[in-house]
Amino acid sequence: MRILSGIQPSGECHLGNFFGAMRQHVALQARGEAIYFIADYHSMTSLRDAGERRRFVRELAIDYLACGLDPARAVLYRQSDLPETCELAWLLTTVTPMGLLQRAHSYKDKLAQGLKPDHGLFAYPVLMAADILQFNADRVPVGQDQKQHLEMARDIATDFNQAYGREVFRLPEPDILEEVAVVPGVDGRKMSKSYDNTLRMFWPEARLKKAVMSIVTDSSPVEAPKDTGQALFQLWSLFAAPAEREALFARAKQGGLGYGELKKDLLARLLAYFAPLRERREELARRPEDVEDVLAEGARRARALAAPVFAAARDAAGLGR
Ligand code: TRP
Repeated sequence: MRILSGIQPSGECHLGNFFGAMRQHVALQARGEAIYFIADYHSMTSLRDAGERRRFVRELAIDYLACGLDPARAVLYRQSDLPETCELAWLLTTVTPMGLLQRAHSYKDKLAQGLKPDHGLFAYPVLMAADILQFNADRVPVGQDQKQHLEMARDIATDFNQAYGREVFRLPEPDILEEVAVVPGVDGRKMSKSYDNTLRMFWPEARLKKAVMSIVTDSSPVEAPKDTGQALFQLWSLFAAPAEREALFARAKQGGLGYGELKKDLLARLLAYFAPLRERREELARRPEDVEDVLAEGARRARALAAPVFAAARDAAGLGR
């Protein structure tokens, strides 16, 4: 089984990313031939700072390695190290109906926000289809928000196969990652860089402490029964076994649990949970050339895996000799 997913380099690897995707990606490397890439081409549709992009890519690679991605098992590469993907995107673009792209939620949302869309944003799903189809991937683990993009990749693959009368591309199966845990931000909204409400597990301890202490709660006194639907409880639950969680929630409903106490405990658990990963991360950060080597080797392997599909697509379309 071939597993593929792309990750946008946003420069902010936080608990939402970790519990929403990274952890599952790392677990999947034991289940098949996993290929992950850092989507720097895609990031160009929203980020225009070259230095920042380069830094974000490096940081994300380090984050994934620190969180357990094993380059001996899984392939990790930088999207732009395989420029063939862009050529394939052109082949796919020529069979992609305008109407299909006009229906994309991500594109419509940006329009609704009043952004001036460019062609890159419009063509985003075609590049994503190329990412997936170039490996004939079987499973594509992504969040719910990417489901439509996967359906589009299937449609585009079908259109190409039909146009040239050959089964060049396999239709990928979406593998929508269950929201294993809701990860709210410190303000109670969904944790997201764009809301500036994140907890970044690799922040220096003092900064993490400050952020944890700033988690918004209601203002009920210590003795009062607590509403366990609050962000603080959801965040704490990420680091607790089910039985512990039950006990704590029961205590909260009785009253007598202070938010300050719970925040301190959350911080302690968070730091303990990530301590070994933090150590690995610090070690990796001291060896940037090794991280580059991992990406270079990843690109080499990715190129070899994609080569037969590129050749079949070019041949089917009558390109080259
Ligand atoms: N669009 C995805 C996101 O924002 C990233 C991505 C790019 C991707 N290409 C992909 C995910 C191919 C899965 C497969 O999260």
